Amino acid sequence: MDARTVWVTGAGSGMGRASALIAAQDGRAIALSGRRAGALEEVAAEIRAAGGTALVVPLDVADRAAVKAAALRIEEELGSIEALVLSAGLNSPRRYWRDQDLEEFAAITDTNLLGPVSVIDAVLPGMRERGAGTIVLISSYSAWRFSPDAGAAYSASKTALGPLAATLNAQENQHGVRACHLCPGDVDSDFLNQRPEVPGAADRAVMLSPEDVGRAVSFVLTSPPHVVIDELVLSPAKPAAGTAA
Ligand SMILES: NC(=O)c1ccc[n+]([C@@H]2O[C@H](COP(=O)([O-])OP(=O)(O)OC[C@H]3O[C@@H](n4cnc5c(N)ncnc54)[C@H](OP(=O)(O)O)[C@@H]3O)[C@@H](O)[C@H]2O)c1
Repeated sequence: MDARTVWVTGAGSGMGRASALIAAQDGRAIALSGRRAGALEEVAAEIRAAGGTALVVPLDVADRAAVKAAALRIEEELGSIEALVLSAGLNSPRRYWRDQDLEEFAAITDTNLLGPVSVIDAVLPGMRERGAGTIVLISSYSAWRFSPDAGAAYSASKTALGPLAATLNAQENQHGVRACHLCPGDVDSDFLNQRPEVPGAADRAVMLSPEDVGRAVSFVLTSPPHVVIDELVLSPAKPAAGTAA
């Protein structure tokens, strides 16, 4: 049993994967969740090959019963959950009022907003009881500064993560629980395939990498318990004046 367990959602790829690998190097046991078991198994194999501990817990974060069952399984197999990195996220190429679909809007909100709420809800009682817990909400630059092309459902659901972190800090810091609203700008990951126009190699080359964000997550997780990092915004270096596309 390891008391320093981190549960990562969206752990099979991108920032979730990078955060999981770095947290494992920091000596934490990692529970890996996402819908594709195969992708999670690959990350688990990388962690184990480096001498770390990983548990694969396939999960759709929109399935509330499955979230509760997953939390119980992780606590049984890895011990109490010390931290959450909530990276599972969804967008759609149809992101304007003229073309959006209400079912898709609901799926984005279920994944990006209610997903994190249900995972937090499942672990918060234990964190409060132990007087310790760190929750990193992987949100978006578009939640920090309005970005018109991010999409109505995506912007609305990610912007709501700010108040989620703020209410956690206002109500739960006194119980040893802290939350960070982490807002990355463009990151070169599979997520970009959900854009109406998928960026090419040249555009991706100047973006953040998932590892850049993984390091920021590690900074939040490893900061002393009395330090609350309410919000953390990361963006790629701006191009020289006059060169922006
Ligand atoms: N890339 C960017 O430019 C960018 C910028 C700012 C913020 N973000 C946010 O960063 C987070 C991570 O994205 P990423 O860039 O690392 O892209 P990514 O590699 O596509 O990661 C997203 C992950 O979420 C998982 N996921 C999606 N729906 C899920 C569900 N219902 N239940 C469980 N897992 C689910 C996916 O795995 P499965 O398909 O296996 O479930 C995938 O591993 C997302 O929340 C995204 O909104 C991305």
